[in-house]
Amino acid sequence: MNETNAEIGWEEARATNRENWEDRVPLHEVAYGLDAYDDPAHLSDVVRTDLAALAPFLPSESLAGLDLCHLQCHIGTDTVSLARAGAIVTGVDFSPSALHAASKLAERAGVDATWVETDVLDARRVVTGDFDVVYTSIGTITWLDDLDRWAAQIVALLRPGGTFFIRDGHPQLYALDEDSPTLTLRYPYFGDGTAQQWDDEYTYVGDGTLAHPRTYEWPHPLSEILGSLLRAGLRLLHFDEGKTLPWRFSQRMIEVPGGFAWPEAEQNLVPCTYTIIARRD
Ligand SMILES: C[S@@+](CC[C@H](N)C(=O)[O-])C[C@H]1O[C@@H](n2cnc3c(N)ncnc32)[C@H](O)[C@@H]1O
Repeated sequence: MNETNAEIGWEEARATNRENWEDRVPLHEVAYGLDAYDDPAHLSDVVRTDLAALAPFLPSESLAGLDLCHLQCHIGTDTVSLARAGAIVTGVDFSPSALHAASKLAERAGVDATWVETDVLDARRVVTGDFDVVYTSIGTITWLDDLDRWAAQIVALLRPGGTFFIRDGHPQLYALDEDSPTLTLRYPYFGDGTAQQWDDEYTYVGDGTLAHPRTYEWPHPLSEILGSLLRAGLRLLHFDEGKTLPWRFSQRMIEVPGGFAWPEAEQNLVPCTYTIIARRD
């Protein structure tokens, strides 16, 4: 893919990213398999996987009756799934088209949800109420420049005793060359504050091209991710690394139950995801 380093301010980067995410919504509404949510028992694979990890840390090992804030909820497939698992859900995203699609999906699925349009880095100022669970997963924090500001939102959204959950692409995975015929390092693992500027007219699922192909992302090493949460005052309950991904990071990945993985001989060489569960005491 076409990537360069860019000195760009947050506001300009965020506006550029927002245009790109707006363009992706109609393509994802086709590609995400929304008809499956007509079955009232259907949960997304992402939420099924995440619930198995999260449940042991919840009161009664269930989301039933808990207030949950879903950061970067996109078109709501995971938010609807979290509601079906019993949570009272608020979905947060900066893309009005994504939230419109999410509210249509929730209505069609017969699920109650609140949708809030905001930059996740301003979420505490804009979202009403406090939460037992703050959840975010798969394709989230590389879109953010400042993880200390992100972690401060999470702590401020949580009630005392509340639980934070994230599962996302592993920063070691993101350092690999997605186009190489072998596992080859290409991009920085450690960030230096500058953004990676990408120009890609395609999105990660579905057909069609994007009118706004430019995006900005920031590499965040594990030390920065965990450090930001600990500095904000959260207590680490659980940390894990996984060998499968819900999207095809590289064309060399093979389909496996629950998503995609490197060819078998390479699966122990590099992690695909990390999971963090932490608590506000
Ligand atoms: C890959 S999706 C993650 C959602 C989920 N894993 C899914 O596939 O449905 C990333 C989402 O982050 C949102 N996003 C990106 N930057 C954001 C920001 N600064 N504030 C709020 N939302 C943001 C995008 O609009 C998009 O909906």
